[in-house]
Amino acid sequence: MKRTKVLLEEKELPRQWYNITSDMPNLPKPPLHPATLKPVGPDDLKAIFPMALIEQEVSTERWIDIPEEVLEMYALWRPSPMYRAHRLEKALGTPARIYYKYEGVSPAGSHKPNTSIPQAYYNKQAGVKRIATETGAGQWGSAMALACNFFGLEVTVYMVKVSYNQKPYRRIQMETWGGSVVPSPSNTTNAGRKILAENPDSNGSLGIAISEAVEDAATHGDTNYALGSVLNHVLLHQTVIGLESKKQFNIINDYPDIVIGCCGGGSNLGGVSFPFLYDKINGRDLRVIAVEPLSCPTLTKGEFRYDFGDTAGLTPLMMMYTLGHDFMPPGIHAGGLRYHADSPLISQLCKDGLIEARAYGQTGVFESAILFAKSEGIIPAPESAHAVKCTIDEALLCKEEGKEKTILFNLSGHGYLDLTAYSDFMEGKISDYEYDDDKIREALLKLPVIS
Ligand SMILES: Cc1ncc(COP(=O)(O)O)c(C=O)c1O
Repeated sequence: MKRTKVLLEEKELPRQWYNITSDMPNLPKPPLHPATLKPVGPDDLKAIFPMALIEQEVSTERWIDIPEEVLEMYALWRPSPMYRAHRLEKALGTPARIYYKYEGVSPAGSHKPNTSIPQAYYNKQAGVKRIATETGAGQWGSAMALACNFFGLEVTVYMVKVSYNQKPYRRIQMETWGGSVVPSPSNTTNAGRKILAENPDSNGSLGIAISEAVEDAATHGDTNYALGSVLNHVLLHQTVIGLESKKQFNIINDYPDIVIGCCGGGSNLGGVSFPFLYDKINGRDLRVIAVEPLSCPTLTKGEFRYDFGDTAGLTPLMMMYTLGHDFMPPGIHAGGLRYHADSPLISQLCKDGLIEARAYGQTGVFESAILFAKSEGIIPAPESAHAVKCTIDEALLCKEEGKEKTILFNLSGHGYLDLTAYSDFMEGKISDYEYDDDKIREALLKLPVIS
């Protein structure tokens, strides 16, 4: 019988996260304070983050220990399986070997608990009582609600309004774990009220929801903020994905030629690829591909420059690919990919040619997701389906060129709470929004110019 799953035992769970900043040829430029435009120091971040996470954010140590309590919670679903997609390969008639690391086995259904668990842990250690956070598709909010529930913290989740309306089951999931969910933009913060005054029908965006959550945390003494992507410590926590995958490839004596991940803020892509990029930086031949939506083409159409992480300009300015902090992407179903910018680490690695980027429209993405579901069974999250589409394209190219490449992609989540998106697609209600050049140019014009 052909081998389908590569499994690790619990005792093989990585004991340390991998910090790519110790090996990058060029480090990202430092984040800048939004008011003074001077580099932010640990003290500036203390109002919203616990010190342990701030230390991780700025650390250049290659390996960072995973606390025992975090490992115990990881063990609820980790190590996650890596599958060989035999049936998809057959459906495509490709000579490529396709593997996927499946992060949908976590209780929240995505890779996000890999970082929500340690973030809740470090906040609890620091005596914090409540977390304020944002969520796009609802995956991060549910991961944070799960983690806060485990550590006895309260959580308020600002959920992008378009997803709040499209995905009621996500809200129920968060509430089941004890979270409070507020549709964003909301009337509870200054940032939300300002947006609503300008546009009462605003669909919301991740940038707006981040502004609301940061304001909530900064104005309540017992509350900290938690971010589900973008920041260095978040990508650090996600490296368990790639570290496990490397062990799994060792077992079967293979190694990927191409590593693929969808890219919203960059955390699942960083998570799956950084441990492999370590080898690339040290001379190994390997391609890493970031996949984003055509309607929010940050890496493929954005500019590499300083911008705010949120819409209201409350967060530090980060050096990253951006479409402009008030760029409002259309309400596509891959809500988790509707972010105006990207992680500074991913951005710098793209800039330096270590990561490539590609953008796809949603109809091709859903076609690929359905082919994957029909072949492999699992219905992918609409975000993860972007990685599926790219994998299929690369596998078809292998067929055309007669090449037997090994492809790994990260199936960052399942789509069982996103079935409305599939139903809309099957009923022909989904179209390909092109990016709007003028809107992007307009948003970029408003960015601060930093010499
Ligand atoms: C399943 C899934 N994959 C990917 C993403 C994109 O985020 P990131 O780029 O941080 O992995 C999200 C975001 O919500 C998600 O829910």
